[in-house]
Amino acid sequence: MISFKTTQALSTMELTPTDTIAALKKTVESLSPEASLRFFQEQFPDEVTFSSSFSFEDQAITHMIAENAKDIKLFTLDTGRLFAETYSVWSSTLQRYNLPIKAYYPDLSLLEPFVEQNGPNAFYDSVENRKSCCYIRKVEPLQRALKGNKIWITGLRAEHSPARQDLEQLEWDEVNQIIKYHPLLHWNTDEVKSFINKESIPYNPLHDKGFISIGCAPCTRAIKVGEDFRAGRWWWEDNSKKECGLHAK
Ligand code: ADX
Ligand code: SF4
Repeated sequence: MISFKTTQALSTMELTPTDTIAALKKTVESLSPEASLRFFQEQFPDEVTFSSSFSFEDQAITHMIAENAKDIKLFTLDTGRLFAETYSVWSSTLQRYNLPIKAYYPDLSLLEPFVEQNGPNAFYDSVENRKSCCYIRKVEPLQRALKGNKIWITGLRAEHSPARQDLEQLEWDEVNQIIKYHPLLHWNTDEVKSFINKESIPYNPLHDKGFISIGCAPCTRAIKVGEDFRAGRWWWEDNSKKECGLHAK
């Protein structure tokens, strides 16, 4: 197994985010996702966190963490509006892997007045309401989840949408002041599926029913052959508005 502990840990060096990313890129480019995860764990002890929505790419990363880099923290944002299937795969993930997954919930002092004033399905009424709902149920909890960390691992993939095609595997998130790392950015869907099958990883059965990108139940539908992978997310909205605020793209 490769060990990176011989050099000074990057987390202890006085580097700008740009310099840290440049240093990380040099190493990560030549490593597999598994070895990169180990590298991050060793270079940033207790400062690496992975956000899982239990999508199949996230499940593949959870498996890699469980097998290679158990000190990386895992969290999920439970919006309260997830699919029943998502809660089931969350449970089976806990049974399969001996890893804690911390759940973050919406702040009730924001959620209760929002629902009282706008109703439970206000996201269908206007983009403004939809963005408020995403802010309360996802973005604000995300800010709490990222606090104290230097590296945020995600399951973003270039194939998800045209906008994600020009993402970099390592990027600086100015809003959250954190380095993001997307280990499976360049994996295609077949690669993700065959990894899931080869390793018998629990996955969301909705993926077998035409769902590729899975978010909250009222805001996600299956897609048809040939449709953009994110066509099933907030499908009633204009393409240009389809982000919830977790990611810029
Ligand atoms: S979103 O921007 O539409 O909400 P998407 O569903 O494409 O995100 O997922 C991209 C990545 O964002 C996931 O791989 C995961 O890292 C993170 N993510 C999305 N939703 C959640 C969630 N509910 N909890 C934790 N992480 C999430
Ligand atoms: Fe609310 Fe829909 Fe956003 Fe989930 S995806 S937080 S239900 S608007």
